[in-house]
Amino acid sequence: MPILDGRQADAIEAAAQRLADGELVAFPTETVYGLGARADDDAAVARIYAAKGRPTGPPLIVHLAEVAAAEHFAASLGGAAQALMARFWPGPLTLIVPRRPGRSDAAAGQQPSIGLRMPCHPVGRALLQECARRGLPGVAAPSANRFGRVSPTTAGHVVQEFGADMWVLDGGACDVGIESAIVDCTRAQPALLRPGQIGRAELEAVLGQRLADADAHSPRSPGTLASHYAPAATLRLMDTGALRTAVSMLHGAVPPGLAVYSRSVLGCPPGVLHRRMPGDAESAAHELFAALRDFDAAGTRLIWVEHPPATPEWDGVRDRLQRAAA
Ligand code: TXA
Ligand code: MG
Repeated sequence: MPILDGRQADAIEAAAQRLADGELVAFPTETVYGLGARADDDAAVARIYAAKGRPTGPPLIVHLAEVAAAEHFAASLGGAAQALMARFWPGPLTLIVPRRPGRSDAAAGQQPSIGLRMPCHPVGRALLQECARRGLPGVAAPSANRFGRVSPTTAGHVVQEFGADMWVLDGGACDVGIESAIVDCTRAQPALLRPGQIGRAELEAVLGQRLADADAHSPRSPGTLASHYAPAATLRLMDTGALRTAVSMLHGAVPPGLAVYSRSVLGCPPGVLHRRMPGDAESAAHELFAALRDFDAAGTRLIWVEHPPATPEWDGVRDRLQRAAA
């Protein structure tokens, strides 16, 4: 089956029925595309791991149609989780909460916790609502890319990853462009496991307390592996001054397959693939993964990337670039 137009009601119904039947469907969220399977069916969830070429075990995020559906999966929802849900759902925020024993063992990677999120993309929401009508309490979905690769932000990217046999519900290019922020709410002091578009300060304002950083006590979170989200090309993060100097010293001697992705370098010698990084963090996040895929498609071997500004609104982009450089 090719790409389905997510604006069509019959496409939503066909995709929901396929999920109900225990098969996989890739679908859009406001962050990135997810590769979905019904969360209450361990055999369906196993198909996700097989398709991704991912070792079995790492926990997946369960996507919900309604806030109330969290209670199906959560053993308890503390004050922190409830405050964050009330403020940011639907939206690009995943909460790790204690799991009801026996609920979605495979999706949760057998852990005592579970990651929950209610996305706000209209097509993703329509799909989840149609699934709920068919009795599915949630859809487990990692980003719809093969293990270790950059997350997809268009339906075409998903086809690049899995081929034309994969069902993909097309909802256009994802607005946010980087994955959801993840907050671990299983501890007395909640911890930020992965930065996203919703900033630390916004989260802390709602919580009325500081967020801890991920540490050795945090739940196992393979998405936080240093080497995640890597393009095929080698990516080197450089300070603005060092990048400008390196570019000015290239003269005629340009190494083959060199690209520069920068906010402040204005020109490069011929032979260098030069792409301007947007000057605001939201636009930079929106295009980041597509840009990395474009570099790969152009045969780039080495990307010199200018460090993003050291300000909080760039936390998500900086995090993804650091992983891509690792
Ligand atoms: O924006 C997103 O979050 C996208 C869209 C599709 O929703 N999903 C996504 O999924 O990025 P994935 O699998 O690529 O990353 C999920 C992250 C992983 O780092 C995983 O380890 C962590 O969430 N995670 C999920 N459940 C967890 C749990 N119970 N404890 C700790 N970490 C968990
Ligand atoms: Mg991922």
